[in-house]
Amino acid sequence: MRDSNGQSRQMEQDISHRVGALGTSPGLASPLNLFDIERMAEGKMTPMAYEYVASGAADELTLRWNRQALDSIKLNPTVLTDVSQIDTRVTLFGQELAYPILIAPTAYHQLMHPEGELATARGAGAANATYVVSSFTTTPMHEVAAVATQPLWFQLYVRDDRALTKALVQEAEDQGCRVLCVTVDTPVPGIRNRQEKAGFALPDGVRTPHMPGFLSETKPFTWQDIDWLQSFTRLPIMLKGIINPGDAEKAIQAGVSGIIVSNHGGRNLDTVPATIEALPRVAERVNGRIPILMDGGIRRGTDVLKALALGAQAVLVGKPVCFGLACGGAEGVANVMNILRNELELAMILTGRSTIASVDRSVIWT
Ligand code: LAC
Repeated sequence: MRDSNGQSRQMEQDISHRVGALGTSPGLASPLNLFDIERMAEGKMTPMAYEYVASGAADELTLRWNRQALDSIKLNPTVLTDVSQIDTRVTLFGQELAYPILIAPTAYHQLMHPEGELATARGAGAANATYVVSSFTTTPMHEVAAVATQPLWFQLYVRDDRALTKALVQEAEDQGCRVLCVTVDTPVPGIRNRQEKAGFALPDGVRTPHMPGFLSETKPFTWQDIDWLQSFTRLPIMLKGIINPGDAEKAIQAGVSGIIVSNHGGRNLDTVPATIEALPRVAERVNGRIPILMDGGIRRGTDVLKALALGAQAVLVGKPVCFGLACGGAEGVANVMNILRNELELAMILTGRSTIASVDRSVIWT
């Protein structure tokens, strides 16, 4: 892996030129936004794969609320500030990100596209984005790392087999993954009615080399296991799936490096609040002590801006990346990230914010 050299390019580039170029992306019939890409993907994916990605738990209330809550927040722009130069860089755990949007960990990329996670990693590279590889990758991590030109992080499901879990963490370290995102909201998977109705199953030949078995075979674990993980990994640990400010406090007491406010894309416990609703409460409790990331329902640059304003240092996108992958492999993944990045830059310009640090609560209309 090598580091991005895109940061200075970003500062120099004429934004209107880059936005204009997006619509001419070859092979993708010019989807203009992430909703267009989802519609295109639905036409290309098997119904089973589409339902797997698109669905949520039970009655899908949380899935809907993730979007509705973002939509219901209004922005409060400031005019006549100098927005001739937009700087979207952020630094997390010593790593500079060109923009504060990461590729969320999602499972089974070979369901979306024959090149699977290799295409995702190449797309991430093309878009200067960090890609959080899932424990349920259908491509071995060393193959993903071999094509990655941007940093990889790794999402960990803790198994009842400790030796296997430890070996998986060590493999992530060996392959150069920089952060371990430990999923903590899935002692069991949620009620996946829509996924079951669609007959979810892995096609012949699609395997998960690092995870024998399915999500239902992961293990309930506790804070003691977080201590155990910290006892041997040298990677920063983020806990993914925190909604409750009290858990955020416990995470800090446990010594983890960061948290991801997430409701698993609405796929686990239905009727938990939207992540954008939980975020400000978690951020208030954390009070800057550790970085907070957020995922869940991010589809527009204005959504990213809202999450940053309410306390996230960066966001992750999962479902849209799967849809981009299904539409156009690596190019589709890059297109999703570039559209969102450009929308974020436009949202910054239009709200009068030239840096990420200047995106604070005052950008929200109250
Ligand atoms: C899911 C797991 C694999 O949500 O994270 O389907």
